[in-house]
Amino acid sequence: MKNMKIKSVMFTETELNEIVNQVSDRINQDYKDEDSVTIVCVLTGAVIFASDLIRRLSIPNVKLNFIRTSSYGKSDVSSGNVKVFELGNLEITDNNIIVVEDIIDTGNTIKKLAEIFSSQNPKSLKFCTMFDKPSRRTVDFDVDYVGVEIPDEFIVGYGLDYGEIYRQLPYVAVLCEDN
Ligand code: IMP
Ligand code: MG
Repeated sequence: MKNMKIKSVMFTETELNEIVNQVSDRINQDYKDEDSVTIVCVLTGAVIFASDLIRRLSIPNVKLNFIRTSSYGKSDVSSGNVKVFELGNLEITDNNIIVVEDIIDTGNTIKKLAEIFSSQNPKSLKFCTMFDKPSRRTVDFDVDYVGVEIPDEFIVGYGLDYGEIYRQLPYVAVLCEDN
């Protein structure tokens, strides 16, 4: 793993807050006639976004579940070989499912999750991400809720890591090599 340092701030805490407000407004509007929704938070990166998001939802019954995926290992390049681990008692069948991701890059992770969950007959299945890097997509996938599109840069903070560090930053930053 290369030594990296923070180059610049891409989104401040205030800007991130505004993005979460916009996403939650859309979800609240779309689910206004629904009684319940299950949020499936993809660990670890989405944990901050999911916790901010669920506190803004006006749907009466919000369940929160966690899954873990792995494709990156300790590198910053997606392998395309996505593994999914379910934590706790996740009930997909007949439930309104919203999968919450931190960032969509190649699209491999979300495509794999869509295959697994749609085969279990949910009442509805939608995908939500805080960040989207559409220029990096290698598989075709339509994401229902996107916080914000970003250019092809590796970002950290607000849950996103580089080699498991930087997740705690309340802002989002771009890294560069520390020579
Ligand atoms: P995908 O399968 O290529 O779409 O990869 C999605 C996953 O890669 C995300 O959930 C992140 O864990 C990780 N990832 C992709 N881009 C970044 C980034 O810029 N910073 C940190 N993690 C990233
Ligand atoms: Mg992730």
